[in-house]
Amino acid sequence: MTTSGRTQVAIVGAGPAGVLLSHLLAADGIESVVLETRSEEYVAGRIRAGILEQSTVDLLTEVGLGERLAREGDQHHGIYLQWPGERHHLDFVDLVGRSVWVYGQTEVQKDLVLAAHARQQQFVYEISDTALHDLESDRPWVTWTDADGVRHRLDADVVVGCDGSFGPSRGAVPDEVRRTWGRTYPYSWLGILADVAPSTDELIYAWHPDGFALHSMRSSTVSRFYLQVPNDTDLADWSDDRIWDGLAARLGHGLDGWELATGTITDRSVLPMRSFVQQPMRHGRLFLAGDAAHLVPPTGAKGLNLAVADVALLAPALAALLKGDPALADAYSDAALRRVWRCTHFSWWMTTMLHSNDDPFDRELQLSQLRWVASSRAGAAGLAENYAGLPIGF
Ligand code: FAD
Ligand code: DHB
Repeated sequence: MTTSGRTQVAIVGAGPAGVLLSHLLAADGIESVVLETRSEEYVAGRIRAGILEQSTVDLLTEVGLGERLAREGDQHHGIYLQWPGERHHLDFVDLVGRSVWVYGQTEVQKDLVLAAHARQQQFVYEISDTALHDLESDRPWVTWTDADGVRHRLDADVVVGCDGSFGPSRGAVPDEVRRTWGRTYPYSWLGILADVAPSTDELIYAWHPDGFALHSMRSSTVSRFYLQVPNDTDLADWSDDRIWDGLAARLGHGLDGWELATGTITDRSVLPMRSFVQQPMRHGRLFLAGDAAHLVPPTGAKGLNLAVADVALLAPALAALLKGDPALADAYSDAALRRVWRCTHFSWWMTTMLHSNDDPFDRELQLSQLRWVASSRAGAAGLAENYAGLPIGF
């Protein structure tokens, strides 16, 4: 049996891009259905990004999603850059007049889903076999199988692929139309969440010959850490002691009396690092947003912010298209890709500057670059402008 339905915008993927898009469309009176392979709880519990750019915070606030963020988010004026024996603070507010916020993606997702339920947004969770059809026509449609094995068909005016790097949307653009670029890095991150107060007021990005380390945080009682590890690292090889010893060494335990506090590890995972861009971000009546169209290595804290920026451009473009004006929709891919490539470069640059390898020439270049960024106002301002984020319309 196949059931059928109709909506204006079929959104594939209930991550931050998909749910925020449904929010922005609803504010414009446009109906959408959000389709998701996982359960609502699974999506809400995924530990991912932690840093919001100024423009992300401004947008969430403007559209009524900023209340808890204002109360519980932690505004940071900058970051620390470190290498053995030296730690330098970069003050983004002083350098470029912008700042960032520590507010977990889990919290953004909770705020989005709460608002979605309040407006009775239609979601379909736990689906399989999602397939996109007739994307080059004005009547595209999506099919899937629900948890009970029933097939469904949803007709729409537009389909938006917000289904991340493993979803079917990016591959629905024909090979002769799409162009892709990518890079796989020769290292991964081992990330942990720990019940311990942060040992720093702002994030520490540390270059070290043993590998990069990052001290981040989620609240006054929860810290987030990352360690550079080889690809294909097995978590079983990293005991709690090995993780804490690695973090202490790389983050400079003992540097000017600084100490790393440790606590119970509540979550751990290994994350591969990739850059990827697919363009165009629109094909017929299919639009791509967020990780479905592009991936960045996490070192620049850009992935979630890029997803938000895409959707901020896409929502008004779709609203105009559905009212008969295609100009913004026609401009969407080029406008979004301008920012995507800026963030792709910045994330690649931060990653290659901070992750060490055995090549002595690379090492000297990295240290020279770090010294320049930390000591030159021009160098520091370049990092600050990109990290705190360019305006959405950049
Ligand atoms: P996703 O969040 O991946 O959502 C896509 C959704 O589509 C998923 O829920 C998936 O289940 C669903 N889906 C997939 N296939 C289908 C299908 N066939 N049918 C229906 N649904 C489907 N970014 C930052 O900005 N700052 C950071 O500090 C940062 N740190 C990070 C740290 C880690 C450890 C990781 C993993 C990522 C980090 N990122 C960061 C990146 C950020 O998390 C992602 O860029 C962000 O989640 C992208 O949102 P999205 O909605 O585009 O994709
Ligand atoms: C976090 C993740 C990042 O990739 C980053 O650059 C900064 C912070 C985090 O999860 O807190």
